[in-house]
Amino acid sequence: MIYFSRSLVSTTALFGAVVFLSSINPVSAADIAAGKAKAELCVACHGPGGNSTNAEIPSLSGQPPQAISVALFRFREGGRKNPIMSPIAAGLSNADMNNLAAYFSSVERISTHETKAANLVAGPQLANKYNCTQCHGPNLLGLQHIPRIAGQQYEYLIAQLRGFKAQTRSDIDGNMSSAAANLNGEDIDALSDYIAGMGYKSN
Ligand code: HEC
Ligand code: HEC
Repeated sequence: MIYFSRSLVSTTALFGAVVFLSSINPVSAADIAAGKAKAELCVACHGPGGNSTNAEIPSLSGQPPQAISVALFRFREGGRKNPIMSPIAAGLSNADMNNLAAYFSSVERISTHETKAANLVAGPQLANKYNCTQCHGPNLLGLQHIPRIAGQQYEYLIAQLRGFKAQTRSDIDGNMSSAAANLNGEDIDALSDYIAGMGYKSN
């Protein structure tokens, strides 16, 4: 992963997440079942199986498990702050986080966003030009702690990209703030419209 140029242990938050990651065991059916039971609270907001029906609340379905558990860990430890998620994560143990991650990652992602025709052309070009595919993967499905963005909720994507650019959304290693720094408002709209629709039936 050539883009991790900054020191990997440059912040305490990242160091904590790396230690946490090393304690993650392979996903088992029992983890998924335990996560599903625990997920009742979550699906009220994140939608059935973690397929969100609210454009501002992210889908969790089909996300690499580490991306979910690291996000929860960082909400709990304060590296990422949100008035809704921080108190929810405060009540979760490491085992809860891993089980929830195992469950949501096992559910297929459903996109209900239809991309505008122009952005079906412009989107992939921007994703290559700005190296989104280098880190998030060729189909933007994420890997390890790097989140899946394909089929993510449109308004949520716009808000996160604006937040990274303005440096108001916390960022585990600074890579995303650098990646978003050169995007203008039109790029953010076109990329979000394209990415949200990835996996939509007719796209
Ligand atoms: C009251 C609504 C609500 C509930 C309940 C809720 N969430 Fe969230 N969740 C949100 C919102 C809103 C965000 C976006 C926060 C942000 O903008 O940083 C979010 C973000 C997240 C993220 C980060 C996703 C990403 O793509 O970075 C994860 C992971 C998450 N929630 C997991 C959970 C889990 C697991 C539960 C149940 C234990 C849960 N949430 C319960 C509203 C909720
Ligand atoms: C150098 C690697 C790298 C590049 C290049 C990169 N990303 Fe990211 N991206 C990340 C990492 C790591 C995170 C997780 C950040 C965190 O939560 O602290 C992330 C998070 C995100 C998120 C938030 C997802 C969520 O669920 O909250 C979005 C949206 C995103 N990236 C979109 C993009 C787009 C669009 C591009 C291209 C313009 C891009 N990224 C380029 C590494 C990268």
